[in-house]
Amino acid sequence: MKQSGALMKSWKNDGYDVLEDIAGQSPELLKSILEGSPDTISLSDASRPDLPLAYVNPSFEKTTGYQRADVLGRNCRFLQGEETSSDDVARIRRAIADRQPVEVTLVNYRKSGEPFLNALRIGPIFDRSGQLTAFLGIQRDITEQRLRAQQDNTRNRLEALGTASGALAHQLNNLLHPVASLLSLHLPDITDANMRKDLEIALYSANQAAELSQSLLGLSRGRFEGGDSATQLPEGLLRIIDLARLMVPASMVIETSTGSLSQHLKIPINETLFAQVVINLIVNASQACEHSGRIRIDLTASQTQRIKISIADDGPGIPDADVNKIFMPFYTKRTSKKGSGLGLSVVKRIINESGGLIQVGKGLPQPKGRGFGCVITLDIPFIT
Ligand SMILES: Cc1cc2nc3c(=O)[nH]c(=O)nc-3n(C[C@H](O)[C@H](O)[C@H](O)COP(=O)(O)O)c2cc1C
Ligand SMILES: Nc1ncnc2c1ncn2[C@@H]1O[C@H](COP(=O)(O)OP(=O)(O)OP(=O)(O)O)[C@@H](O)[C@H]1O
Ligand SMILES: [Mg+2]
Repeated sequence: MKQSGALMKSWKNDGYDVLEDIAGQSPELLKSILEGSPDTISLSDASRPDLPLAYVNPSFEKTTGYQRADVLGRNCRFLQGEETSSDDVARIRRAIADRQPVEVTLVNYRKSGEPFLNALRIGPIFDRSGQLTAFLGIQRDITEQRLRAQQDNTRNRLEALGTASGALAHQLNNLLHPVASLLSLHLPDITDANMRKDLEIALYSANQAAELSQSLLGLSRGRFEGGDSATQLPEGLLRIIDLARLMVPASMVIETSTGSLSQHLKIPINETLFAQVVINLIVNASQACEHSGRIRIDLTASQTQRIKISIADDGPGIPDADVNKIFMPFYTKRTSKKGSGLGLSVVKRIINESGGLIQVGKGLPQPKGRGFGCVITLDIPFIT
């Protein structure tokens, strides 16, 4: 009764008194709130040098993989690592020095070394006399959310591109139709041999353009309908490569070989998802080559009901020391926030979910003859 009276009294004020009452009169209640919170909560002692952690809740232990005993007494920067942005850390440092609250989303690392995206809020806590006593940190692991957003974003862009190329193909067809038909109508009447040759070239070009726009139309049709959980090979892959050509500069040469594939196969990945995989890999290769280079895509079926799709480029390649890092979320060597570093982790996830594997190796010889570019090989089970 005494307790609820105190709470009622406080409620009439600013509500914050409730917390003081809970902390003062019922530390057990406060403790159970903190211990049961799905949010990750930490408290740093502001009275000691370098803000050592004085409390972390069980959710902190679960998210970071560190036990309470591992971390109490240490500054929370042990969660930071290679991909943590130093700008974000500097923002935290400034806010703490100014005793201001701060919100930052930054890359942190669990005890296992696995990176995660931490949406972190830190705020100062003052006592009644205005003395700074602690900092409260609330951490939220938003890795999954960001990966899903990246996947949705790519899918939306592909869908938009599909729709736009469909509309464009229609318009082109409408415009090309009279060109080709009027040329073929009047060509037989042309007696001047030179003019006739020129007009035949014009007719040939118009027909080629019509064919191109027809394949553009094919691209936007029958795709992105969801539902179908498999991709037909080689047709599906060829359609996706055509789409990818629109997404990299024309200065990239893309060669495709499906030579050794004698039959039509299906892989257990929806075509929209598979498009995300292939386009991510082609765009990465193009970026690595600084948009001027060669990409070679090979398709080979093995006796063991698996298919290998390799995407090789003649860019700078990946140093051996980095090979194991590139599939980790947030790993990027593209500077100035150009890359989210999520592309390959989305690729890996999609491939692994289909029972497939992904490998990195040495790709095409570099044009200036020193080393090799990169090759990414997908090894996926197929259904005949
Ligand atoms: C209560 C509290 C919680 C913190 N939690 C995190 C965290 O989860 N991840 C992180 O990278 N930094 C966290 N920090 C920030 C670091 O402890 C440190 O303040 C930051 O790296 C800036 O200082 P520095 O440049 O001296 O390292 C937290 C700080 C405080 C005070
Ligand atoms: N073909 C390649 N050649 C050389 N390095 C590559 C190649 N593909 C990927 N990488 C390296 O792997 C890193 C991670 O690639 P990932 O696709 O995950 O992220 P990103 O391309 O940097 O950003 P985004 O999220 O926009 O895709 C790249 O930053 C690059 O350093
Ligand atoms: Mg990428």
